[in-house]
Amino acid sequence: MKIFLDTANLDQIKKYNDLGLVDGITTNPTLLSKENADPQEVMAEIVRTVKGPVSLEVLSTNYEGMMEEGRTLAKYGKNVVVKIPMIAEGMKAVKQLSGEGIKTNVTLVFSPNQGLLAAKAGASYVSPFIGRLDDLGEIGMDVIRDLVQILKNYDYPAEILVASVRHPLHVIEAAKLGAHVVTLPPDVLGKMITHPLTDIGLARFLDDWKKAKQSHPKITLTR
Ligand code: E4P
Repeated sequence: MKIFLDTANLDQIKKYNDLGLVDGITTNPTLLSKENADPQEVMAEIVRTVKGPVSLEVLSTNYEGMMEEGRTLAKYGKNVVVKIPMIAEGMKAVKQLSGEGIKTNVTLVFSPNQGLLAAKAGASYVSPFIGRLDDLGEIGMDVIRDLVQILKNYDYPAEILVASVRHPLHVIEAAKLGAHVVTLPPDVLGKMITHPLTDIGLARFLDDWKKAKQSHPKITLTR
């Protein structure tokens, strides 16, 4: 399973990228608005920093506008994926952009039917927002389950990108269903790494080694 980071924060991106944990990045206008910097410069820097796919979202809601923005965003780097909203004209833009060899990520997907249409249009990634569905009392993960089956049935090359992830349990559920990608807020990735028993266990090992060194001062392995 690929892990993308769902943020426009360069410090967080660099931190997890340096650890080798990041396969790609997703951004959106809300995430970019949280950064105290020119959004276009932030997008360009993210594209330069991360080798994997970086989703950059268009703001137009008509075909011509989406095409113009999509082509401009694609020039930021070879790893750019143009994020297109799941609206009627968006599907036309996805078809055209993918015909031009530009990768697309269809965002704001909330139903299996929307996901099916996005995959059929030629999207590289289909992004169901599971947390926002959960917030409404629906079961977001059901959309993932249905889409995994649908994409498999027809051999669509689109990858399911599980978005609006709120906690590590969402990641486990998505992985069990065979989703291709999860995009995670940095705090969720942080929570996946740590476990209190790991910290307790490590502290004990280090403490016991210190005791062993006191009894055998010639030990050279570590301080
Ligand atoms: C994905 O591409 C979106 O940027 C993101 O996952 C939205 O998540 P939210 O519902 O937490 O805003």
